[in-house]
Amino acid sequence: MTLSEKINAEIRDIKDFPKPGIVFKDITPILSRPKLVSEIVDWFVEKGKQDKIDVIVGVESRGFLFGMMVAERLGLPFVPVRKEGKLPHKTIKHSYDLEYGSATMEIHSDAIKPGQKVMIHDDLLATGGTALAAAKLVKELGGKVGNFTFLIELGFLEGEKKLKTENEAVYSIVTY
Ligand code: PRP
Ligand code: MG
Repeated sequence: MTLSEKINAEIRDIKDFPKPGIVFKDITPILSRPKLVSEIVDWFVEKGKQDKIDVIVGVESRGFLFGMMVAERLGLPFVPVRKEGKLPHKTIKHSYDLEYGSATMEIHSDAIKPGQKVMIHDDLLATGGTALAAAKLVKELGGKVGNFTFLIELGFLEGEKKLKTENEAVYSIVTY
């Protein structure tokens, strides 16, 4: 089985969660399989090396799961992008529309140094609004987006197009 097939076999589709009409991709079964987790981390680590990334940005909350592991394995700083009101120090914010509802994301103002090449990581790429908000925050602090990495991409929502404002690399292990 390929890595993509192994992940696909573990993902649970939950109908009408968190709202009617949404089919939620539940990745928690993957987290109960440490060998699969290692293979997934390896895959993202390779993308970090390939694109000479300096910092891993993980998006709250599911982007923290693999993002922190990838940063640790690469020996790179991890920076959280969080939902509004959670980060204690000085922040900058960006608001955006979600697949369901809307949200505001924040980053600590001192978390990225100008010129640093950043990997923006999350579990899922849907409309791309969340990852694009993270990218805007990174760029506002003077960082460069080296790549975007996702476990899952919902290809039919065309989030990838939205993210490639400057032709950034977008990598997903599984595409639906
Ligand atoms: C989900 C998912 C991504 C985002 C993708 O997060 O984990 O972060 O939506 O959607 P988009 O590409 O349309 O922006 P959610 O807001 O459900 O929060 P969570 O990760 O904290 O569960
Ligand atoms: Mg999320």
